[in-house]
Amino acid sequence: MTKHQEGIPHMVSRVIQVDPFDLVIFGGTGDLARRKILPGLFRRFCAGQMPASARIIGAARTDLDDAGYRKMVAEAIAEFGSEHTPPEAKLKAFLGQVSYVAIDARGDTGWAALQEIMKGTGKVEAYYFSVSPALFGDLAERLQRWGMADQDARIVVEKPFGRDLETARTLNATLAKYFSESQVYRIDHYLGKETVQNLMAVRFGNMLFEPLWNAQYVDHIQITVAETVGVGGRGEYYDKSGAMRDMVQNHLMQLLCLIAMEPPARFDPDAVRDEKLKVIRALDPVLPHHVVRGQYEAEKGNAGAHPSYREAVGDPRSKTESFIALKTQISNWRWSGTPFYLRTGKRMSARSSEITVVFKETPHSIFGAEAGQHRNVLSIRLQPNEGITLGVTIKEPGPGGMRLIDVPLDMTFSEALGEGAEHVDAYERLIMDVIRGNQTLFMRGDEVEAAWAWTDPIIHGWEARGDVPKPYESGSDGTTDSQEMMRRDGRNWREVSP
Ligand code: BG6
Repeated sequence: MTKHQEGIPHMVSRVIQVDPFDLVIFGGTGDLARRKILPGLFRRFCAGQMPASARIIGAARTDLDDAGYRKMVAEAIAEFGSEHTPPEAKLKAFLGQVSYVAIDARGDTGWAALQEIMKGTGKVEAYYFSVSPALFGDLAERLQRWGMADQDARIVVEKPFGRDLETARTLNATLAKYFSESQVYRIDHYLGKETVQNLMAVRFGNMLFEPLWNAQYVDHIQITVAETVGVGGRGEYYDKSGAMRDMVQNHLMQLLCLIAMEPPARFDPDAVRDEKLKVIRALDPVLPHHVVRGQYEAEKGNAGAHPSYREAVGDPRSKTESFIALKTQISNWRWSGTPFYLRTGKRMSARSSEITVVFKETPHSIFGAEAGQHRNVLSIRLQPNEGITLGVTIKEPGPGGMRLIDVPLDMTFSEALGEGAEHVDAYERLIMDVIRGNQTLFMRGDEVEAAWAWTDPIIHGWEARGDVPKPYESGSDGTTDSQEMMRRDGRNWREVSP
């Protein structure tokens, strides 16, 4: 009998069909559409969630007809969809719901045709802006001019949402000219990850953790998002952003909010987002010696295949970080005095995203000094091998006195939930939420602005000091001074393990 058969019911996923919808994907031939959006929609179609009257309309500058676009969609599904070849009939039926309009975001071409397609359908209308943020304003304005920005329409916008507070404010103000906040769905795909939502379930669905979830019992919290990939072909974008803008301001910030926020009164969009906003606004400024940045070097013995960061972005003097580690504090009653350590980087030793809550030692050890120091450590693994481990202290088995050891109570979700647990990619979950009109897992405008208001001074600080990121070896866990930052506080980073 396996673990999940013993205690935990086998999961049977319930798929509830969403309302009929028309989804227009601006940037419908782009990388994100091909990798994530279209294969995700196809999986939802196969799961029976997409009504037969739903339509997906690709819109981009490329001159294609419906047949040409369907061919591209089929290729994207074959390449990025899943390891199994989709049943021919399913794919054909899905493609029957897909069409294409060649459109110019800054001109007039294609808008009349799109208007004709979207006229009076009575369905949910969603417009996905999977394009450069420079085009968000043009698209919003044209949607209104061509009569498609009615009050039920929804727009989905991708990150980066601005590159600082000022640009984020401008973007929010531009969108607000044409759409109300309840129509704008700002995507942070980390919020669509299964285990990220599980953070809320674990915290607020159990009595066990919440009473201990504060500065009195928690020594510190670590959030690590380590990637093995480098900047790849995204050098031009990435070199203008760096790890702070690309990962910390959004993904790590969201994780920090979910781990630190007060329990919302209800699981509804504004109740959750109000609590997250309070966390961001309570963040202390980060002191210069509490932030370290790094840039990866070429892989030893394999420099051709894995170039250094500077080679990858084509700038031998680039000062952009591919790794960052920082320490911050939340100035409120719950967390005052508990440091939060954040770390993320590319070309690290393993792909691993983990939140670790390190509890304090017991106030007094009845076992004496020789028993050593022991702490409970709760680690929540977001990817891969999603699950939760709680380190507990027990007696080392055998005779010879009271020696204590730490052992993990391990719950790997795939093992606990068994085969029946449905794997839903972040994007497909979030797109279905757009159709359902549920904004809980999307960032509100004020949240994004507050995150930039905290981020900006940190970036301005290192720019003003002329700081240059320190090199780190590809396949390592970042710069040595990130370890040093922890050691100064008498702590250690958790090992990055797959
Ligand atoms: C994106 C960043 O938002 O998230 C990328 O722009 C990063 O640089 C990616 O690689 C990580 O996402 P995931 O889902 O692979 O952890």
